Amino acid sequence: MGEELLRYEKLAEELGGLIATGTLRPGDRLPSVRRLSRERRLSVSTVVQALRRLEDRGLVEARPQSGFFVRHRGAARPQPSARSTPDAAVDVDVSQKLVRVLQAGMQAGVAPLAAALPAPSLLPIAALHRLYAGVARRHPGLLAGGNYFHTDEPALVRQLVRRSLAWGGPLDAAEIVITNSCTEALGLCLRAVTRPGDTVAVESPAYYLMLQLLESLGLKALEIPTDPRSGLSIEALDLATRQGRVAACLLVPNAGNPLGCIMPDENKRRLARLTAERGVAVIEDDIYGDLHFGDQRPWPIKAFDEAGNVMLCASFSKSLSPSLRLGFVAAGRRRPQVALQKTITSGGTNPVTQHVLAEYLASGAYDRHLRTLRRTYGQQVEAMAAAVARHFPASTRLTQPQGGFVLWVELPENIDATALHERALADGVAFVPGELFSASGMYRNCLRLNCGNPHTPEIEDAVRRLGRLMA
Ligand SMILES: Cc1ncc(COP(=O)(O)O)c(C=O)c1O
Repeated sequence: MGEELLRYEKLAEELGGLIATGTLRPGDRLPSVRRLSRERRLSVSTVVQALRRLEDRGLVEARPQSGFFVRHRGAARPQPSARSTPDAAVDVDVSQKLVRVLQAGMQAGVAPLAAALPAPSLLPIAALHRLYAGVARRHPGLLAGGNYFHTDEPALVRQLVRRSLAWGGPLDAAEIVITNSCTEALGLCLRAVTRPGDTVAVESPAYYLMLQLLESLGLKALEIPTDPRSGLSIEALDLATRQGRVAACLLVPNAGNPLGCIMPDENKRRLARLTAERGVAVIEDDIYGDLHFGDQRPWPIKAFDEAGNVMLCASFSKSLSPSLRLGFVAAGRRRPQVALQKTITSGGTNPVTQHVLAEYLASGAYDRHLRTLRRTYGQQVEAMAAAVARHFPASTRLTQPQGGFVLWVELPENIDATALHERALADGVAFVPGELFSASGMYRNCLRLNCGNPHTPEIEDAVRRLGRLMA
């Protein structure tokens, strides 16, 4: 035992030394476990222990199916929130600032590191155009006016149910409502289960649009500490819901925005059980579930829901095109309330687009497209992380997203990302300041970067300029 200990420490020391002297550089792949074991005449478990030791020290990272890689300088993860229990619920007031930030980020000539949007070049737009033409020809009656109450196209519902088999489903076709985007789905669910003045538990940091929705519906946000590796803290949610004052929990458990982490299955199971027991409705946003970097499609919380208490929302905005405006909610036992809100707020969802999507999914093209897209997003996130490590201050921390295409960056305490934002825009670079991910103004030294675009020299230069502004 003592000998084994020494052996793995010795190997960790040696590899650490190669990293320190630059023999092994950021991004380099370490020799495989099997090779190290053979060449160094060590057991596989000793080698794995040595690599884990290096991982704990933040020197290397494991990538599924690929092995261990040297991490980028300064690439420590953001600190989990120092708080382990939630504070009081607060009113939300982020909308005005957010609109200004997102509009400014869309201006021509500004590097697009703000809104989480994929580059059009990554999307199968030509194929979708062809399908629109084909569907219009083959289904000439689609725009002839339809049934006000049954606007979900069965062909699309069938495809969604089939897809859900891969992630702990199948969903029940009868619980699905097709929506205009994920945003609409989230809004419908909130309307279905809350009244103005209610409290909704959200992740901290939270996706800003969720905060905007709470603001517009007169709801209070209860910010639950969220770990950059494992997501929303179940312990904190447990504490927060003991007094029965939380109407709903709104979260992005798979490759969330902005932290990019995937909540472990065990936590999903606990969350599903806890919320069902306490009468807290769950609104889960799974928009990034298909965009995971690992081998397995992560399951949503919905897969662990036995009470019909979880409303699962998603859309194809991040994988096919944000302009499709096509999403859905699998609303469990609250389907009637959600469907009523759908009728009241928008009446239905464009049937042509529903058929286009149904045909695209049925053809198998979506899965082929996803395989490439996931790899591309992974590479773009990696390239952005490397650029941040090159150009931002040395003590910067950043997330290691497990999917999606945003990077959350924690700057040294003394840097105010909101003030930096003004100067960055003047210098032609956009990002979203961290405080917009909090209803109570936390994260002033954080920012989120969109990695939805290929990492061109222009993007690299934008990151370099941003780093210079922090110096
Ligand atoms: C977590 C999350 N949910 C929803 C959306 C918006 O999706 P949609 O365009 O379908 O409304 C986004 C877009 O940034 C997102 O990051």
